[in-house]
Amino acid sequence: MKKIIVAITGASGSILAHRFIETLLSLGHEVHLVVSQTGEAVCAYELELSMNQIVSGYQASSGHIFVHNNTDLFAPISSGSFKTDAMVIIPCSMGTVSKVAQGGSDSLITRAADVMLKENRRLILIPRESPLSSIHLRNMLRLSNMGVTIMPPMPSFYNKPKTLEDTINDSIGRILDSLEIENPYSKVWGVTHA
Ligand SMILES: Cc1cc2nc3c(=O)[nH]c(=O)nc-3n(C[C@H](O)[C@H](O)[C@H](O)COP(=O)(O)O)c2cc1C
Repeated sequence: MKKIIVAITGASGSILAHRFIETLLSLGHEVHLVVSQTGEAVCAYELELSMNQIVSGYQASSGHIFVHNNTDLFAPISSGSFKTDAMVIIPCSMGTVSKVAQGGSDSLITRAADVMLKENRRLILIPRESPLSSIHLRNMLRLSNMGVTIMPPMPSFYNKPKTLEDTINDSIGRILDSLEIENPYSKVWGVTHA
């Protein structure tokens, strides 16, 4: 079982986070969830569900979900002494990209990301914005040079997606592959392609 921190920020694409967490829990992994204030508002808007409703669903399916408040710098994930396997910020706003790139640790999300960097642990960002400015690109390059994995949710059209669901599963499969977690959405070119 892996211990994964999942942070949801205020970029569009809450459904990606929701499906990603559901999949991690269904595969038996432990999730430490933290949501920014705007992340919560965008979730409510895009999914038409409150965070309480969303979290209740996770809790009904798994005992391995732990929810932390983004203002709680006393939470275990704020410290490097609390061992985790990886942190995934999904979706990741450009605001959070900027703060993580600059080392600003003024919230639990940015502090936990800073811990991943200082402890040389896996940090994966799923940034969502279009078009990207030079500031966005510079911040992402800076993070990439520090070993952070930058995985924008870009559809792979060669997989011939038929539905939005296919596109979401494709993105989730790639993130899980990157975490070396076996999953039902993984596709290997030449093996699982038609
Ligand atoms: C409906 C909605 C959609 C948004 N989509 C994006 C987005 O795709 N990418 C982005 O960088 N910011 C987006 N924003 C702006 C961020 O929410 C805003 O910059 C916020 O301050 C980010 O804070 P956070 O990273 O702490 O959540 C969106 C805001 C709203 C209200």
